[in-house]
Amino acid sequence: MAIVIAIANQKGGVGKTTTAINLAGALAERGLRVLCVDMDAQANLSVGLGINLATVQHSMANVLGDSRIHLRDIVITTGTANIDVAPATLDLASTEVDLLSAIGREYALAEAIDDWAQGHYDYILIDCPPTLGLLTINGLVAANGVIIPVQTQYYALKGLTALVKVINTIRSKLNKNLRVLGLLPTFYDPRTVLGREMLDEMREHGENHVFNTIIRNAVKLGEAPLAGRPITEYASSSDAANNYRELAREVIALG
Ligand SMILES: Nc1ncnc2c1ncn2[C@@H]1O[C@H](COP(=O)(O)OP(=O)(O)O)[C@@H](O)[C@H]1O
Ligand SMILES: [Mg+2]
Repeated sequence: MAIVIAIANQKGGVGKTTTAINLAGALAERGLRVLCVDMDAQANLSVGLGINLATVQHSMANVLGDSRIHLRDIVITTGTANIDVAPATLDLASTEVDLLSAIGREYALAEAIDDWAQGHYDYILIDCPPTLGLLTINGLVAANGVIIPVQTQYYALKGLTALVKVINTIRSKLNKNLRVLGLLPTFYDPRTVLGREMLDEMREHGENHVFNTIIRNAVKLGEAPLAGRPITEYASSSDAANNYRELAREVIALG
């Protein structure tokens, strides 16, 4: 059975997609088979893994909106060994609207992750959009664990209250298996006082587990998606690649 991890935070630009791509890279280079599921109509995950959207015929929009199309029909291999992607396209935005009136609307992704997907992959990483809408809820209902990237460049913790509330509601009503694997500090700059204060506050006052791994601010993390590769391939010996290898070790240790 695959371990299914949603990467969520309703704030944009905090490092969700970057974490999905590069955690996948670090797991894949250990020989683990990873499926990256793109739940954001912006399709940054798909593009960042080298997919040319013009060649995508069916996407998560079809899987969630049409019961005849299965995950295995849309999954494509990437240029990186052991990483496949279930791509998104812009029409995922209208799929979300269509889902609103569907029966079992919160379970569409959980149902799409069928026996084939469970048997085919060691990890399934779900990149959620920057909202607390139905697509993110689908991601959280389908997952065993959630990673919450938190930008350490401003006071980002307050914004987490709404997300934690949604996670708690989903756990009590829709998916009792959902576990917060941890908050992941991102964009960390050790030279700034604010960055250090944010870390202290997360560790000392937060109620949720915080990963030991800290993802530093790194220009290379912005470059790698342009090459369509995870950082573990694009700049294999960089600190940023090692940050994500450390995260992979922690995630594996959490089981
Ligand atoms: N640790 C980092 N250091 C520098 N740039 C980063 C880092 N993490 C992400 N980025 C860049 O910041 C932008 C937003 O990151 P992204 O992962 O797309 O956020 P989200 O998916 O939460 O909206 C992207 O251009 C990405 O390449
Ligand atoms: Mg994103």
